[in-house]
Amino acid sequence: MTTESMIEVDGLTKYYGDFPAVSGLTFSVRKGEILGFLGPNGAGKSTTMRVLTGYMPPSSGTARIAGYDIVGDSLKARQHIGYLPENVPLYTEMTIREYLSFMGKIRGMSNERIVSRTNDVIQICHLEDYRDTLIGKLSKGFRQRTGIAQAVLHEPDVLIMDEPTIGIDPIQIVETRQLIKDLGGEHTLIISTHILPEVSMICERVVIIHEGEIVAEDTPKNLGDRLEGTERLTMEVRGPIKEVTKAIRNVKGVQDVSFANGESGSGLYNIIGKREGDMRVDLAKAVVDNGWGLLRMEAVTLSLEEIFLRLTTAEGS
Ligand SMILES: Nc1ncnc2c1ncn2[C@@H]1O[C@H](COP(=O)(O)OP(=O)(O)OP(=O)(O)O)[C@@H](O)[C@H]1O
Ligand SMILES: [Mg+2]
Repeated sequence: MTTESMIEVDGLTKYYGDFPAVSGLTFSVRKGEILGFLGPNGAGKSTTMRVLTGYMPPSSGTARIAGYDIVGDSLKARQHIGYLPENVPLYTEMTIREYLSFMGKIRGMSNERIVSRTNDVIQICHLEDYRDTLIGKLSKGFRQRTGIAQAVLHEPDVLIMDEPTIGIDPIQIVETRQLIKDLGGEHTLIISTHILPEVSMICERVVIIHEGEIVAEDTPKNLGDRLEGTERLTMEVRGPIKEVTKAIRNVKGVQDVSFANGESGSGLYNIIGKREGDMRVDLAKAVVDNGWGLLRMEAVTLSLEEIFLRLTTAEGS
């Protein structure tokens, strides 16, 4: 059933004092999958990641990494994890190479392996020109890459990255996203982000978390398609606004029509309707039968921004 899932989270709950930062999270991530962890500030993303990486224990519930319980088999579980925390604790007075070597020693890697892996990750993360630069002198983007480099140093199966592209400029962000995508396939990844387009670009599946609970879980595309079973269309019609609006409203399945704008005798209408059936045929007929001009009709898919807002604003809770 879940033999190939590398991360299995079941009923995970974390209290800070008597405040439940995360409650009852259940999800799993398949081998080689990139899961996006999405949610507004304070949703519980970092908390979940800190628990998954063994940084702090859950209050209740369980999580398994590569089959190892993060509490009962913490050491084994941690050997399979690479973690890029929200604030990477980099040592500013070390060079990148010294830092990576230091991290390798902490993790009990052999000297030869440290040397060869350090070279590998410097290449993977495109840090060649900075290997002997003090971390304190690196720009934010290169520090972030150094953070990623330490996360993959010991070749973990599972990577957990907390907002890996935060603070990175637009040029570096493209490269960093590509780097993260390239890591998928071999690794199993969870990345957290607020950046919705990033999720569509990088992730195969998204878990949206709000006030410590999962409010949606799907592929970025399905989330867009299925939300509330509604369908949205825009239609450009040449005809009298009031009558056109009325005629559209009378079409079966239409729930709402609004007039957006118009120029020289034509108007743009936004239509929301039930997903079942195809309203388009009836809509076109309504317009043409009245002798108006149908200039254009398009289906509108909800952007992730809209979905996110709908799922995380007040009525969701
Ligand atoms: N050490 C702590 N002690 C008490 N409360 C905490 C602690 N860390 C986080 N919280 C609270 O737990 C909730 C979840 O915080 P968390 O940092 O997990 O959110 P997040 O989703 O990572 O947010 P962001 O997008 O801002 O990084 C918040 O309400 C936060 O104030
Ligand atoms: Mg956070």
